[in-house]
Amino acid sequence: MAATRIDGKALAAKLKENVRAEAAVLPRKPGLAVILVGDDPASRVYVTSKRKDCEECGFYSEEYALPAETTQKQLLELVAELNGRADIDGILVQLPLPKGLDEREVLLAIDPTKDVDCFHPYNVGQLTIGTPIFQPCTPGGVMEMLREYHIDPAGKRCVVLGRSNIVGKPMALLLLHAHGTVVTCHSKTPDLKELAASADILVSAVGKTGLVTADMVKEGAVVIDVAMNRNQAGKLCGDVCFEEAAAKASYITPVPGGVGPMTRAMLMKNTLTAAKLHQGV
Ligand code: GUN
Repeated sequence: MAATRIDGKALAAKLKENVRAEAAVLPRKPGLAVILVGDDPASRVYVTSKRKDCEECGFYSEEYALPAETTQKQLLELVAELNGRADIDGILVQLPLPKGLDEREVLLAIDPTKDVDCFHPYNVGQLTIGTPIFQPCTPGGVMEMLREYHIDPAGKRCVVLGRSNIVGKPMALLLLHAHGTVVTCHSKTPDLKELAASADILVSAVGKTGLVTADMVKEGAVVIDVAMNRNQAGKLCGDVCFEEAAAKASYITPVPGGVGPMTRAMLMKNTLTAAKLHQGV
């Protein structure tokens, strides 16, 4: 039986529409500031799409495109200024930062109530114990997709490929909180293929085109592809060999049109949450 394609684009549109409706009745518009340091072309694309999302949701947004030579001190000063602004609810510093800038220190400087990425150690701690203010955007988006398609991780074997702070680790935590039995695999995992093939829910967040082949997909598994790679032809693709995996999976996310739009929608949802918090609503 062919797998059901999980439509991230449609679900993200629905989510953003709900966010827009909630934002419209707030005393003040939610405000998001996005900081981009350097001129990484992929990051530039992300930042542009975030501006568009803010417009769609009726948010106020500001963009800071800083040169790669920006100093740590200048960046920290900008974060401090935005922390103090009453019209800014969310601060997003696009990662990775150029070499020479200390990412850890910058993330630590963001007011945790404005940390719409959920990267501040305070928020990561809250997430770990299961009481987060914000959902980490990409893993949170994956959980929304599972909910929408009535896929309950409870009691399922969930295998996460990748252990990044942005995706792999928080993804494993959210699946664990949803009562999944979670295994996290990474570059030093010797039996990654076998573990992947044992998954009821397989999430790949490695960033390696062609990593997940049909032999790594259990019959009837749910396959979530978080990666955004470019293949040799420059076409956007994920980690999963889509056609062959789809022949075995029950549900599968495409790239593009899967997890990506959900990540962006979750950022809007988090900014709304921050705005409600700041306005006491
Ligand atoms: N770089 C890649 N993904 C992300 C993200 O979700 N947030 C930020 N700030 N930077 C990223």
